Amino acid sequence: MAHLVSPSLLAADFANLQRDIEFVNSSDADWFHIDVMDGVFVPNISFGMPVIKAIAKHANKPLDVHLMIIDPDRYLEDFSNLGADILTVHIEACDHLHRTLAAIRALGMKAGVALNPHTPVESLSELLHDFDLVCLMSVNPGFGGQSFIDRTYEKVRKLRKMGDAVGANFHIEIDGGVTTSNASALVEAGADVLVAGSAIFRAENPGATTTAIKNA
Ligand code: DX5
Ligand code: ZN
Repeated sequence: MAHLVSPSLLAADFANLQRDIEFVNSSDADWFHIDVMDGVFVPNISFGMPVIKAIAKHANKPLDVHLMIIDPDRYLEDFSNLGADILTVHIEACDHLHRTLAAIRALGMKAGVALNPHTPVESLSELLHDFDLVCLMSVNPGFGGQSFIDRTYEKVRKLRKMGDAVGANFHIEIDGGVTTSNASALVEAGADVLVAGSAIFRAENPGATTTAIKNA
C-alpha cells in the first residue's frame, strides 16, 4: 500500500487556520497531524481543546493527534469526543502503557505510541499487538523546523522486522525533519506515514510539495 502523508498543523498559519485546513483537505495529504504540547513533557506549549474543536469542524480527513503531554490518561475521552481518529501517547509519559493503549482502542480510536529519539524500539517488544501505530520521533519533540536525526532509519528497519516476526500490523510514522529529500529513503526503510510540518507549510508550493512527499 502507498504510504500516507500527515501534514503537521503546528507549521500552519494560526491566523489563517481555516485556509490551511482547506488546503490540506484539497491536497494529496491523507491525515491531519495535530501536535498537543503541555510545556511539561516538552519545553513548548502548542494548542488545546478549543483549537482542535475548530480544526475538526473543517477537516475532512482523519485527525492524527500526537499528545506530547504527561499523564495523557486524564484526557483520552476528551480527545475521543473531539473527533480524534488516531490518538498517540508517548511511551516516556506512560507508567502503564498497555492499559493506556487499551483505553484508547476501547474509545474507538486507533492507538499510537510515540518514541523519543533516545528510546529504543525494543521497548515495544512486549506490546507489538497492542497498538495500531508507532510514531518514531526523528527530532526531539517540542518544536517544528528541526533537522532530521539519521539514526531513525535503523530504528525503522528494526521495528518493521520486529513487527513482521510476530505478524503484527501497525503503521510506522516518522515525525520531525521530514522533507522531499529523505521521504523515499524512509519509505524504503519501512515507514508508511510521513509527518511534515515546515517542509509543507514553508514551501513555495505546499501542494506540489505534499504531492512530492506522497509520491516519494
Ligand atoms: C515536533 C512535532 C512535529 C513537528 C514536525 O515536536 O511532533 O509534528 O510539527 O515539524 P517539522 O516537520 O517542521 O519537523
Ligand atoms: Zn508530531
